[in-house]
Amino acid sequence: MPEAARAKPPIGVFDSGVGGLSILKSLRAELPHEDFVYVADSGFAPYGERDEGFVVARARTITRHLLREPQLAIQALVIACNTATAAAIHLLRQDQPDLPIIGVEPALKPAIALSQTRRIGVMATRGTLNSQKFKALLAGLADQAQFICQPCDGLADAIERNDTAAINELGRQYTGAMGQFGTQAGDIDTLVLGCTHYPFASEQLQPLVGSGVRLVDNGEPVARQTRRMLARLSSDSAPGQCLLFSTGDPAILQTAARHWLGLGVPVKRLRI
Ligand code: DGL
Repeated sequence: MPEAARAKPPIGVFDSGVGGLSILKSLRAELPHEDFVYVADSGFAPYGERDEGFVVARARTITRHLLREPQLAIQALVIACNTATAAAIHLLRQDQPDLPIIGVEPALKPAIALSQTRRIGVMATRGTLNSQKFKALLAGLADQAQFICQPCDGLADAIERNDTAAINELGRQYTGAMGQFGTQAGDIDTLVLGCTHYPFASEQLQPLVGSGVRLVDNGEPVARQTRRMLARLSSDSAPGQCLLFSTGDPAILQTAARHWLGLGVPVKRLRI
């Protein structure tokens, strides 16, 4: 994305690793002419089982880098990570009051709209489920459905490593712990994937809960919200471009981006 070829600054997107690609996919579909810079913080992942202070510090470091690096200088930031949103979005907004910042939270409201049985499963990281932000969201909706919340230690990491056996094993363990899935009264008929890594395990999770159970994530609503928050859209009619960076092994992001988004661009190693 050379400077001369860019009509306007890119949108920054970050996650602890490859999970945020599930959000980037929706962003590219909603905003096909915008440029994006994606940072996978794989060198410091997973976030979900770390303390909040660690996640806040990483979110601040990445945001500062995306704003200050002259070749990047983002116009908006999407925190493509439920855990980092819960821990840090309010602080990042305080730090950068002029920067539009969009976060991701577990899709409880869309799940209520879909559920017939009003029993809804929520899979997320321990960090997300323990956060004040999530607890407030849950409390505000508790009279509309029953939520069965399951912390999924290790699942994002298994997806990051593309370890199919571990994904299957952990998926079986965690869905099993949540109770009966199905479409009859008393069954969990809707499962919220409350971590941006989990949509990449949908193929393994769906058979574990049965084909009648809806899996819900927030990619499309986040992309629509991002469009609403942009000051103006690119006037460039050419397809937007993506720059990909990783603080860990670039090959992991490269493989995932090619597999899930058909993106063949090289991934650069970032040392921040
Ligand atoms: N993808 C992230 C989320 O949405 C975090 C996964 C992790 O690093 O634990 O919560």
